[in-house]
Amino acid sequence: MIRVGVIGCGNIGGVHAGILKEINQTELCAMADIQIERAREYSARFTEGNGAVYESMEKMLEEEDLHVIHICTPHNCHVPMAVKALKKGMDVFMEKPPAISREQFQELLKASKESPGRLGICFQNRYNETTRKVSELLDEGSLGRIKGARAFVTWHRDAPYYTESGWRGKLETEGGGALINQSIHALDLLLSWLGKPVWTEATMRNHHLKEIVEVEDTLEAYMVFTEGPEPVSASFYATTAYVADAPVFLELVCEYGFVRLEGTSVWYQKAEDEEPVIWRAPKTAIPGKAYWGNGHQACIQDFYDCLESGRAYANDLGSAENTFYTMMDIYDSARNEER
Ligand SMILES: NC(=O)c1ccc[n+]([C@@H]2O[C@H](COP(=O)([O-])OP(=O)(O)OC[C@H]3O[C@@H](n4cnc5c(N)ncnc54)[C@H](O)[C@@H]3O)[C@@H](O)[C@H]2O)c1
Repeated sequence: MIRVGVIGCGNIGGVHAGILKEINQTELCAMADIQIERAREYSARFTEGNGAVYESMEKMLEEEDLHVIHICTPHNCHVPMAVKALKKGMDVFMEKPPAISREQFQELLKASKESPGRLGICFQNRYNETTRKVSELLDEGSLGRIKGARAFVTWHRDAPYYTESGWRGKLETEGGGALINQSIHALDLLLSWLGKPVWTEATMRNHHLKEIVEVEDTLEAYMVFTEGPEPVSASFYATTAYVADAPVFLELVCEYGFVRLEGTSVWYQKAEDEEPVIWRAPKTAIPGKAYWGNGHQACIQDFYDCLESGRAYANDLGSAENTFYTMMDIYDSARNEER
């Protein structure tokens, strides 16, 4: 059995712990949270009280002989924690974002290269059935080349979501808002199909919680992927000031038709004279919120299958590089616009 510890027993840590309980290869041995009562509650809920509880990752690593840790803590903790574990040669599965600054990303890259431990990043939406369907349609080739794309993430986050967490809404701990936290997955998918932008321009605002958060609640970006007479571009819009959590919308306009992903559906048309087709992902009992997908289980299971077999894990740090640096470029452009 692979001995695992979870750090950060809040909202998403429970999704990880629940999945670790179900996976055949893993034993959830320990959990850590600075709010130790949360770790105790996890131990009771996911290990019938058998899992050890700690107030810090450091203490947990000192006391326990673990193979893997899952990092489910606030954004600013991801890199310091991952680096510590990688330096001990451990395997690490880390929630998004991979870092909150370029310096942090470089530090993580160095630690990852120097460690025998493996690092997986939780970009679970890559495993969604809808994502695979879009990739399949593009790979088939009949849609032709991608001419452009758009993405919309329109969600609702209210004041308590920030004030009750202690870390959200602050630049120092969250690193940003609607982009780095809520819509990084949509950006990641868009870039997986379009590649690396050669030009990025963006603006951002805080519309609805001005006195409460210092990060953006709304951001738009224009990205150009190839220049020349027929440039390939994408329009990206993310907000947490909407009235509801609407399903994520992504569209790729191609040479001969289009493909649109909205929530659990994919809508496509391969030629102008063909009827559009609506494909719906099969209903599933796997946990996950409808508006951000239920890819966690497949993403985490694949990580352990890779550890066991020695196969390379697709969601490694290298695979996150384009998304991370494009996100930082978008923020730089938006911050310049603000001045
Ligand atoms: N992949 C996804 O779709 C997805 C969804 C939700 C959250 N997340 C990510 O998961 C992470 C956690 O988000 P959340 O919503 O669960 O936050 P949360 O506030 O609900 O949970 C974080 C927990 O970490 C604990 N913590 C803080 N500092 C700590 C430290 N130094 N040591 C140990 N524990 C510490 C807090 O006490 C809290 O219990 C974030 O990086 C977030 O972006 C990812």
